[in-house]
Amino acid sequence: MKKIAVLTSGGDAPGMNAAVRAVVRKAIYEGLEVMGVYNGYQGLIEGKFEQLQLGSVGDIIQRGGTILRSARSAEFRTLEGREKAVQQLKLHGIEGLVVIGGDGSFRGALELTMLGIPCTCVPATIDNDINGTEFTIGFDTALNTVIDSIDKIRDTATSHERTFIVEVMGRDAGDLALWAGLAGGAETILLPEEKYEVPTIIERLKSGTGRGKKHSIIIVAEGVMPAAGLAELLKQEANIETHVSVLGHIQRGGSPSARDRVIASQYGARAVEILKEGRGGIAIGMKNHTIVDYDLQEVFEENSDWDLELYALSKELSI
Ligand code: F6P
Repeated sequence: MKKIAVLTSGGDAPGMNAAVRAVVRKAIYEGLEVMGVYNGYQGLIEGKFEQLQLGSVGDIIQRGGTILRSARSAEFRTLEGREKAVQQLKLHGIEGLVVIGGDGSFRGALELTMLGIPCTCVPATIDNDINGTEFTIGFDTALNTVIDSIDKIRDTATSHERTFIVEVMGRDAGDLALWAGLAGGAETILLPEEKYEVPTIIERLKSGTGRGKKHSIIIVAEGVMPAAGLAELLKQEANIETHVSVLGHIQRGGSPSARDRVIASQYGARAVEILKEGRGGIAIGMKNHTIVDYDLQEVFEENSDWDLELYALSKELSI
C-alpha cells in the first residue's frame, strides 16, 4: 500500500484532531502518502481531497472539533453514493481509508470494505457506545465537561436548597450519564440500559429530605427522556419542584483531555499499521488498557458490554 486517506464522520468529538494528526504522521513515517478527505463521506463522494503533509497537522493536537470537518451524508447511505465514493478513491489512487467516527461511520466503512476499499476504523464519539472497545475518543473530555457543569450546578443547588435535573447526551447509551453521575455524586441516575420507576425516584428524594438533605442532583441520560419531561412527572406525581439544566452541545466541544489525546494517538497510529499490513474491515479499540484490533462486524453484534458493576456502585454510594 502506497497511498491512504483519512476522514472524520458523524458527530465531532474532542480528540478527533489528535487522531487525524496521528494517522498523517504515522503514515508519513511509514513512507505512505496520505490524503485528507473533507466533510466525511459526503466529501468522499464529491472528491474533496487534499494531500496532507507533516505540517498540515501541526498545532491541532489541542484543538476540539475536526479540521477535516464532518457531515452526515444521506447519499452515502445509497449503493449509488458508495459506488461514487469508490470511484473517487480509485481515481486518486487511494488504496486504503482510515475512518474516524462513531458506529454509523463504521457501518459505512464496512460497506466500503465490501466494495473493495480496505478500511480501518478509529472510535471517536462522546457517547462511548461502540462495541468491542472500552473507550472511545472524546468520552473522557465530554465527561470532564459534564462534571465541571455538575459541580457548578451543585453550588447553586446547595446554596438555594434546590433539586436539579441535568440532562446529559449519549444518544441511546448511558455511559456518559453513569460516569458523570458517579463522579459528580448525583443522588439519582437514569439510564436507557436500566429500568426506572418514578415512585422510586420520589422515594429517594423524600428519604434524602427526611434525613436533612436540602438539595439533590438527578442525572438523566437523553436516551431515557427529556429532563423537562421528568420535571413535569415529579411535579404532577409528588408536587416536587425541580430545576432543569440541559447541557447540550457544550458536551461535544473543547480542547481534548490528555487522556483523549493519548488514546487518539495510539488508535490513529494502529489504524495505519493495519492498513500497511494490507488488512481492512478492522476496528481499533481498547481492552484491559491494551490497544486492540478486531473484526468490524463485531461492532454490530448484540452488545453485552454494559457496566452493571459501576451502575450498582453508583446506587450504593448515593443512598
Ligand atoms: O453521537 C454524539 C451525539 O452528541 C449524541 O450524544 C447526540 O444524541 C447526538 O450526537 C446529537 O447529534 P446532532 O449534533 O446531530 O444533533
